[in-house]
Amino acid sequence: MSDFYEQILSLRAIRDYEKRPLSSEDLDAILEAARWTGSSKNRQDWSFVVVTDHDRLQGLAECGDFTQPVRDSAVTIVLVREPGGNDFDLGRAAQNMMLAARAIGVASCPITLHRSAEARQFLGLASDQEARYAVAFGYPSADAAPRKFGGRKDRARVVRYDRG
Ligand SMILES: Cc1cc2nc3c(=O)[nH]c(=O)nc-3n(C[C@H](O)[C@H](O)[C@H](O)COP(=O)(O)O)c2cc1C
Repeated sequence: MSDFYEQILSLRAIRDYEKRPLSSEDLDAILEAARWTGSSKNRQDWSFVVVTDHDRLQGLAECGDFTQPVRDSAVTIVLVREPGGNDFDLGRAAQNMMLAARAIGVASCPITLHRSAEARQFLGLASDQEARYAVAFGYPSADAAPRKFGGRKDRARVVRYDRG
């Protein structure tokens, strides 16, 4: 099996990061992966807000309930759904960023901004821009590990053939 396939299967949310910024090369690589994601009708109705300032990260973290990874991250990228966009496309962009990050040694964790109206205001977005999801990134700390309860349902429970 290819290394690429192994990386897909073993991608996990990592929440413990080193306290150092991402290099601009690594950040650019992650953003390129987002930008090149395929989208419905290639509309690319998205934008990406990059938050690196420590105080801004703490403020952004107030917009969700499980946001310690944002507080600890080197950078958190908010996925903005622009008018006409959809969450399927945003999810693809998030996963592409996470896989690209993994490929260059950067750990990541998806984040829900439960109070997305607050996030919109905090980021200075317009009323028709939605900021519900983000991804936190950082170089994994030496003891970084995925959560132990991160197994998956058996294939037989989630896959059906020919009919639902
Ligand atoms: C849409 C979505 C939102 C998530 N939101 C959060 C979050 O707010 N905080 C967090 O710590 N993890 C969040 N996660 C990470 C999940 O908890 C994690 O992917 C899941 O427990 C499986 O763990 P694993 O990815 O390490 O296998 C989110 C994941 C997804 C897909």
